[in-house]
Amino acid sequence: MKGFPSILAEISDLTKSQVQTLLDMAFEYKDRPALAAQFSIPAPIIATSFLENSTRTKHSFEAAIRLLGCTHIDFVAEKSSLKKGETLEETFLTLHAQGIEACIIRTGESKVLEQFSGRPPIKIINGGDGTNAHPTQALLDLMTMIDIEGGIAGKTISIIGDLKHSRVTHSLVELLPQFGAKVILCGPENFLYRPDNDAIVVASNLEETIINSDIVYLLRIQFERHGLKDGDSNKNMLADYVAHYGLTRERFKKMGIERPIYHPGPVNIGVELSLDLMRSPLYRGYEQVRNSTFMRMAILKAIIENGDDSVGRLSRNVRS
Ligand code: NCD
Repeated sequence: MKGFPSILAEISDLTKSQVQTLLDMAFEYKDRPALAAQFSIPAPIIATSFLENSTRTKHSFEAAIRLLGCTHIDFVAEKSSLKKGETLEETFLTLHAQGIEACIIRTGESKVLEQFSGRPPIKIINGGDGTNAHPTQALLDLMTMIDIEGGIAGKTISIIGDLKHSRVTHSLVELLPQFGAKVILCGPENFLYRPDNDAIVVASNLEETIINSDIVYLLRIQFERHGLKDGDSNKNMLADYVAHYGLTRERFKKMGIERPIYHPGPVNIGVELSLDLMRSPLYRGYEQVRNSTFMRMAILKAIIENGDDSVGRLSRNVRS
């Protein structure tokens, strides 16, 4: 898959036509999973390294690795030399020297992959870096919107919640407008994110935002990134959030409308979304998870087969 990047750190690492190729591949895997395997080398080894908690991203990558017929190594940071102060670059070069083709990494640190730009120590897929980016989530969300809503061109998608601290927001805002969607970002003032893009509308009123949207994408409040210690201020903030932004069947009823609901998970049930809506046909969360494996298969396949022989040069002691 010549031309695909060796490091997928952000959506901007992909051209629109590469995204289209990934979508086509992912839909093919979904329709005919038997197509998947067949690599130029047998059973490439892929490592996952989750330095921050994960249920969905980690396991769907692991499922994708297995469905592709690849071999999986779980890199456990706590038991590694990262704990002895080894740098990420040394760690990646070592994994590459061990014959590992690619590593999926999640870190709490934003933009940690920028240091490798143009000099990949191994092929790397960003599974979420701090508040910065989560490109594979945005890609699987786009796939699901095409799959279930029939596409996003000419539609308005509102992203609602803790926009500022969510890496998902930043990747969605880069991706969705490329495929013809209008985006509204909605949340309380302290959670707002104002991108440098006039095409993105920023709003604070939930009802108005939902009325103007075709698709609603909710985000979790990222408490772990607020740096708050005081339980009380959390409690007050939470009550206020639920009152103004919590999506419930009641709220839809009062507005006299319903909209499909997306969420990257995990949901803070009863905060941004009520359980009855989560259990209703409007909730797309499980479809997002279902498609995530196929999209991640496509991403892995495209990156592993990109033929980039500059990867891991330093681990071969080749001078540049
Ligand atoms: C998101 C993440 O970790 O960035 N979840 C996910 O990957 N499915 C969103 C979140 O944690 O709120």
